[in-house]
Order: sequence, then C-alpha cells, then structure tokens
Amino acid sequence: MSLSINSERLWSSLMELARIGATEKGGVRRLALTELDREARDLVIRWCKEAGCTVTIDAVGNIFARRAGQDASLPPIITGSHIDTQPSGGKFDGNYGVLSGLEVIRTLNDHKVQTRAPVEVAIWTNEEGSRFTPVMMGSGVFVGAFALDMVLQRPDIDGITVGEALHRIGYAGSEPVGGRPVGAYFEAHIEQGPILEDANKVLGVVVGALGLRWYDVVITGQDAHAGPTPMRLRKDALLAAARIVGEINAIAYRFQPNGRATVGFMQVKPNSRNVIPGEVRFSVDLRHADDAELERMEQETLAACERFAQAERCTAQVERVTNNPACKFDETCVAQVRKGAEEAGFSHMDIVSGAGHDAIYMARICPTSMIFVPCEGGISHNEIENAKAEDLAAGCNVLLHAMVERAGVAHR
Ligand code: GLV
Ligand code: MN
Ligand code: MN
Repeated sequence: MSLSINSERLWSSLMELARIGATEKGGVRRLALTELDREARDLVIRWCKEAGCTVTIDAVGNIFARRAGQDASLPPIITGSHIDTQPSGGKFDGNYGVLSGLEVIRTLNDHKVQTRAPVEVAIWTNEEGSRFTPVMMGSGVFVGAFALDMVLQRPDIDGITVGEALHRIGYAGSEPVGGRPVGAYFEAHIEQGPILEDANKVLGVVVGALGLRWYDVVITGQDAHAGPTPMRLRKDALLAAARIVGEINAIAYRFQPNGRATVGFMQVKPNSRNVIPGEVRFSVDLRHADDAELERMEQETLAACERFAQAERCTAQVERVTNNPACKFDETCVAQVRKGAEEAGFSHMDIVSGAGHDAIYMARICPTSMIFVPCEGGISHNEIENAKAEDLAAGCNVLLHAMVERAGVAHR
C-alpha cells in the first residue's frame, strides 16, 4: 500500500493554528514577529517536537524542525513556508505549506518509514513583507540574497526593527543563517489565483514564478491651509501621488498579458481634512514573467513619479526595496511533482506562480519546485480565503511522495 497522509489531521491542525490571530470574518491577522507570531511559532514547534523532530532557530528567526535520516551526512530535503500573515490574511497562505511539512513527518512516523537523508520543515521569517521589507526575508538571508545585519535593521512603520522584534518575541536564534547544503526544497501552497479552479484541476505543477520588484516612494510637497491657498500655488503631495497611482495602473495595462502593478499601501501626512497634504508615502509592486519587460515597467514607473511630482511642484524619492528576477524551477523537481500527481491520479496542469514564495529564494541554492492547490474563487490575501480539505490533502500527498523519493528510503 502506498503511503498516504491523514487529511483530517492536516485540516484540524490548520484550523487550530488559524485560531491564533483569528479575525471576525474567518481570517487571520498575524503579522511577522508580533506576539501572535510568537504564539503560533510556539505551537508549531511543540507539534514538531511531539513528532520527534529536533528544532533549531537561526539568527533571523527561521525555524527548522529536522527528522533524522539514516545517513546524517546527507544534506536534508527541506519543505516549508511561512506562518506570518497579511493584516487581513487567510488561514491557508503559508500555513498550509508548513503544516503539510509537519503532516509529511507525522505520516512517516505513523508508517515507521526511515528516510536515508534527513527531512526538515522550515518556518521562514517574514515571508509576507507586510510589516517589514524585504519580502521573503528569512529565506532571502538563508540563501545569501541579503546580509543579516541589513535585515536586522529594517524598521516597521513604528520604527521597531526586525532585530528588536526578534528579541521581544524570543526568536533571535543562535544558529548561523544558511551556509549549509540542502538536498532539495519543495513547497506546497494554495494557488492564490483563479487558474486551477477555472481549469477544474486539483494540482498545479509550478514551473516558475513572475519577477517581482517593490519600491518605497515618498512624495514631498508642502503642508498648507486648505482655505487660503489658491489651487495653482499648492504643493499637494497626495494629488501627485494620485496621478502616479493612475499612471502605474496604466503601465501594467501596457505590459499585458503578464504585467501586474499595484499600489497597496499609502500614508498621507498630516492626514487632516483642511490641510493640503505635504507628504505621501506609498508602495509599488511590479511583476512580470520577463525580466526585460519588468525593467521597462520600472523605467516607466520612475519616469511617472518624476513627471507627476514635478507637475504638482513636489519632489519624488523612489527606493527599490525588493528585486526578484523571474524564476524557473528545477526540471527534475518539477518532473517529480508532475509524476506524483499522475501516479496518484490527480488532475493537474503546469502553472507559473504570480505570488512570491520562499521557494523562489531556495531555488538559488538547491533543486526546488512547488505544488499548488486551488483556493476558492482564486481569492487570497483576504480573510475569506478558503480551500477544500481534499485538495489540500492531494497536494500534501504529492509533497510526501516527492520528498520520500528525494530523501530515499533506508533499507532495514
Ligand atoms: C507574497 O505574498 C507576495 O507578495 O507575492
Ligand atoms: Mn504565502
Ligand atoms: Mn502571502
């Protein structure tokens, strides 16, 4: 009989974890390195230890739960994802990948399977990039994309740094970050878009991901009284920002079908109804499957910031805070996922991830691929995010088989 995960156990673990930071609309608000993140980390670590794993924590707060293999000298086969969420996030984004990894380990325990290589579940710090940038922070440091010192100094909007926040929640670990060999990395995740549901497929064999660039923009004008200041003498930073937002949307339309552009965060100062806004800060998120096209989107975005700021007698300062080239996953890992789906009889299709994932960084240092399962209506980064237990189980089963195949089974 071939190995199979316990779907009910996976589902009930997901529901239990989702209680930490649960929102009224059925979602989760559990920002990176908050007290709620600490509670969630504590719970998942307890489960991993109960499953017999050895748990280590590195200096950026990444958690690794290791199930020993027969040969400790072999590099581990790692799976995982994140348990931080968006401010109005769902129960499945990230959490599914982590708890699928735990379910793989619990299943190996149930069936007393010893793998040759060790198997690890990673919980990466601050994947969401909502409280702190850069996004996919923990995995980025792990693969050497960013220096540890740099990310420890990154502040949230209240000026609390990553380093301070890690200490506050007791997750500034003692292990060095990365710098060790990894045999392969697999990550299960909900799709977060509508393609699988639309095509009526249970599994997405993820072949790569869109390139992603993030920017922090500051438009500076001048605070002034809303009554006495004539229109043509204003330095209205919000007006400049509004015109830029409109143009950024138009830029994405010029780069179809693969271009995406979003302004999702904005702070207006002083944010008072009878003061002309003197300063506006906002984020820009640009994505494209082709790096050259993404570069052109960036050039047009920078030009738009300059042009509309000047038109409103303001200045624009733009800082790029994330730059992930388009990513192609390892062909052997992709084929393993595809074969796993075929052998289990799950309908599947190849798919490119529109979202960022820790797997994108891991692909820089080891053979990597991902497994997607559908989510209801393709909706994610939303409290109503939902997925079917049977689809989640299907993805977890394919993950199990891919990991066992990579890790090898020890002969008793
Ligand atoms: C990560 O959640 C992203 O922004 O794609
Ligand atoms: Mn995610
Ligand atoms: Mn997310």
